[in-house]
Amino acid sequence: MIRLQSVSVAYPGAARPQEVLRDLSLDLHEGRFTVVIGESGCGKTTLLNLIAGFLKPSSGLASIDNVPIAGPGAERGVVFQSDTLLPWQTVQENVAFGLRLAGQSPQQRQVRAREYLALTGLQDYADAAIWELSGGMRQRVSLARALAVDPRFLLLDEPLGALDALTREQMQEHLLQVWKASGKGIFMITHSVEEALFLATDLVLLRARPGRVDSVRQLGFGARFAAGESARSIKSDPGFVRLREEILEQLLHPQAHHDSREDAVLEDTLA
Ligand SMILES: Nc1ncnc2c1ncn2[C@@H]1O[C@H](COP(=O)(O)OP(=O)(O)OP(=O)(O)O)[C@@H](O)[C@H]1O
Ligand SMILES: [Mg+2]
Repeated sequence: MIRLQSVSVAYPGAARPQEVLRDLSLDLHEGRFTVVIGESGCGKTTLLNLIAGFLKPSSGLASIDNVPIAGPGAERGVVFQSDTLLPWQTVQENVAFGLRLAGQSPQQRQVRAREYLALTGLQDYADAAIWELSGGMRQRVSLARALAVDPRFLLLDEPLGALDALTREQMQEHLLQVWKASGKGIFMITHSVEEALFLATDLVLLRARPGRVDSVRQLGFGARFAAGESARSIKSDPGFVRLREEILEQLLHPQAHHDSREDAVLEDTLA
């Protein structure tokens, strides 16, 4: 399990340090699909960088299996917000890249890379150059590369952000299938409320300046899809639509929402 305990992050600013995350606590479990949503600049990528081990908290503790995270590790596969593929290598060589680092033979690498290219629908592009691919295909190569090393946790920073609406829906279903079949822990950032609701078992709303957890909801829509219900049926379910509007409202007017909730707590206390 990955655990963040009261982590804060401050970047050195021009005049004084800029506090980006404050006192944030969050647990990520294998087999759970945690989705983070929040306005641009609220610290989502910073949070992912902490979990990935690229960044250390200014205070608090980030740990995996009770061991402090000291740096990146093969058990945490990352898909970055902007694509980081190697343009001078083919699609298959990109997917096999991490496997070479893991010491696999060329033949093992080829078999594994082909398997994950098929899983992401890119089997016909194994020998293509990266510059020949569309943006959506590049993101699928990035996903295949992260999956190929079989990490326990997948950390995804807006992996579907550049996809057209149709491919995006297909990739959401695909992610749920990977999640169900593999039992991996997934941590994903998205800007789409609908996507977040559909995929998350744990939906984390962040508030900005400084970034902190506003709310965490346990959801079961993705599990319904994994159990056989169609995506369209789930996304048009009145419960789904109501929650989508509620969360949009919460993101658009965090202050109003927060104040009214504090009032509600106060009323409870007074009653
Ligand atoms: N390496 C850095 N040095 C200094 N400031 C940084 C650094 N990385 C991020 N920041 C600042 O921290 C804040 C949060 O950035 P972050 O990238 O985590 O946001 P985000 O929620 O991922 O935004 P987006 O949705 O636009 O991707 C921003 O104000 C950004 O300018
Ligand atoms: Mg970001």
